Amino acid sequence: MPSDFIVGTVDQRFKEGFGVFIVRNDDGMYVLRAVCTHLGCTPNWLEAENKFKCPCHGSGFYRSGINYEGPAPRPLERYRIVLADDGQILIDKTKIFAQEKGEWSSPESFLKA
Ligand code: FES
Repeated sequence: MPSDFIVGTVDQRFKEGFGVFIVRNDDGMYVLRAVCTHLGCTPNWLEAENKFKCPCHGSGFYRSGINYEGPAPRPLERYRIVLADDGQILIDKTKIFAQEKGEWSSPESFLKA
């Protein structure tokens, strides 16, 4: 449920098992695929620096998933997130949204709070 996630945090509970970061902000939630867009390593969330950092070649990504340093050529991807009928969050890893294709404006790339 959305209330399981704290506003203003990047949740890493499902990073190892499912390969996702779940980010909640004032407006809602989105799910970032924990795969660097350079060569596919798993980035780390660095809370103190407020960024994702890839351990392989140093790419950095803002909380939004947008790349801003290092060799990564594009932002992290987002997965589909919707609310199921029972109020649970449903994350669909078969549907990917890429910022550079304008897909982050899709309603299913972001769950409004
Ligand atoms: S795989 Fe992430 S920076 Fe190269």
